[in-house]
Amino acid sequence: MRARFSHGKPAFHQPGCGIGGRSATLAGVLEEIPLAGGNVSVGVVRVGDTVRRPAGPWTPAVHALLAHLHAVGFRAAPRPLGLDEQGREVLGFAPGTTVWPDRFAEVGPPARLARVGRMIREFHDAVAGFTPPPGAVWRVVIPPEDDGGGEIIAHHDLAPWNLVTDGDTWTFIDWDGAGPGSRLWDLAYAVKAFVPLSADPARRRTDAAARARVLADAYGLDEEQRLRLAPMLARRAGAMRDLLAAGHTNGVQPWARLWDEGHGETWSQDTEYIARREQEWLTALTN
Ligand SMILES: Nc1ncnc2c1ncn2[C@@H]1O[C@H](COP(=O)(O)OP(=O)(O)O)[C@@H](O)[C@H]1O
Ligand SMILES: [Mg+2]
Repeated sequence: MRARFSHGKPAFHQPGCGIGGRSATLAGVLEEIPLAGGNVSVGVVRVGDTVRRPAGPWTPAVHALLAHLHAVGFRAAPRPLGLDEQGREVLGFAPGTTVWPDRFAEVGPPARLARVGRMIREFHDAVAGFTPPPGAVWRVVIPPEDDGGGEIIAHHDLAPWNLVTDGDTWTFIDWDGAGPGSRLWDLAYAVKAFVPLSADPARRRTDAAARARVLADAYGLDEEQRLRLAPMLARRAGAMRDLLAAGHTNGVQPWARLWDEGHGETWSQDTEYIARREQEWLTALTN
């Protein structure tokens, strides 16, 4: 989800658990440094070279996924390091900071945007051979359309607020919404977020269609996929708007809060903007 949320907690100390340890203090404890930037997970902290995040029933499946990605050579995801003594999930700390909101210019040049498209392709190819553990539980908040069980385990939030970069090291974080999905459903969301396809005059770009093309080319979409992606862009954004609207109506957090903060209105306007220009996206993607 979009950035701008600070957990606002002071750093505090607690006994270390033997993982990481670069920030071990003289007293032999590891400092917990709150990590701001996410909009959904509360209590994300850095401890040494690790990140601790709230775990849930989906965590074993997510860690199996991350372990698979590393086993087959996909390194642009955090390493899964189990649970800590408080039952939190432990992940390798990805060096750097998220591209959104302060460093979005990093993915401005087409060559850098293309790297995003290639990374997504590499992830999708790497995950294609993944067999989820028996009884795997996932937390997919927006089920993919048309796909039933899903053709791949998708990330579902491939966006600048979940891309951490540090020089040449680029990592996608925030995998706990991963689950059954499709290549195009994942990519449609990434195109919306990375171009970006935005109705906001401050973010709207005259080269939006060309940037969508850069992502499609870098990913290596075939002709049939391009025809399907163009109309899917508005439906993918609309699905997010619908999630926030339903959360608002039913009082389901954190969607109700995000709606109140204005995200629902933003996603509504973006969805209309994208839908009105479907032909423009189609032309750019296919010509
Ligand atoms: N593995 C990681 N490496 C480095 N920083 C991370 C990692 N996981 C999370 N963070 C930091 O914590 C913030 C919130 O984490 P994230 O997993 O994106 O939660 P949310 O579900 O709230 O979006 C991120 O914006 C990032 O700054
Ligand atoms: Mg996030």
